[in-house]
Amino acid sequence: MSKPKVLVLKKLPETATAYISEYCEIIDGSSEESLSGEKLKHLLSNVEGLLQSGLKIDSELLESAPLLKIVSNVSVGYNNFDTEAMRKYGVVGTHTPYVLDDTVADLVITLMLSAARRVAELDKLVKQGEWRSDQVEELFGMDVHHATLGIIGMGRIGEAIAKRAKFGFDMKVLYSNRNRKPEVEEKYGVEYRTMDELIRESDFIALMAPLTSETHHLIKKEHFEQMKRTAIFINASRGQLVDEPALIEALEKRLIYAAGLDVFEQEPVEANNPLLKLPNVVTLPHIGSATAKTRISMAISAAQNLVAGVTGEVPPNIVPELK
Ligand code: DGY
Repeated sequence: MSKPKVLVLKKLPETATAYISEYCEIIDGSSEESLSGEKLKHLLSNVEGLLQSGLKIDSELLESAPLLKIVSNVSVGYNNFDTEAMRKYGVVGTHTPYVLDDTVADLVITLMLSAARRVAELDKLVKQGEWRSDQVEELFGMDVHHATLGIIGMGRIGEAIAKRAKFGFDMKVLYSNRNRKPEVEEKYGVEYRTMDELIRESDFIALMAPLTSETHHLIKKEHFEQMKRTAIFINASRGQLVDEPALIEALEKRLIYAAGLDVFEQEPVEANNPLLKLPNVVTLPHIGSATAKTRISMAISAAQNLVAGVTGEVPPNIVPELK
């Protein structure tokens, strides 16, 4: 019997490719920078599975893939899925939760420390030959330990951040979330607040919510205005959760102290984005989950989802809206 055909648009580690090959015929589109248009439609026309990350899965794409059964994301976020359209076309969508929680939490702590202790700014000065360790007050940073951290979005990654903050840095940890999480409150001693309360009380604000139509521009001008003038804002989830011009204004006017950003409204970030010019912003190129080990785990998880979806099994990580 012939194997089901699957289109793979992402470079995968050998273990993941070997696993998929056992059950499927792979059409490899991973070397094409950003496959789109007619070429993509042509490749999709006879495959039962698609593995990728970030490609918009909407009616137009699904229309050109009559045999498609599953789209496997190599990411935990799945804001690229139009779940209504996928339901209509009977296509299941999966993601890669769990395996990246600790890695992304580590990055959030890195951003907090880097922004608070001005690591990028001082690194630049040292490399320019400006060694200024003596009492240069304008280069002093802020303490992370014993400060108050507010986490917006208490999912698994939020929990992993709370654990680090509470037990590693003796921080007071607040959270806001659609539902209260009494078990997390008990486990990590975190306290629930409304988003407005959290924004007013926190020294560090870490945004960890999923991007949906309800959370688009969740954080806007009025929120930055309510933050402490010493607040440090961290976003390692999705750029579209924040009204970016409002964030830029808050940083330029020093309404807040600094920001640590792994994500932007437009990615790759445009070269003329003012955020790239501000010394009080630490920027990263959306690498929250990018460690060698975690990226292998994500690829294997995505491969398992893909194979299950084309071989009649229930994929382990179907996104909640499509279950
Ligand atoms: C995810 O998995 O959603 C992270 O943002 C990395 O892409």
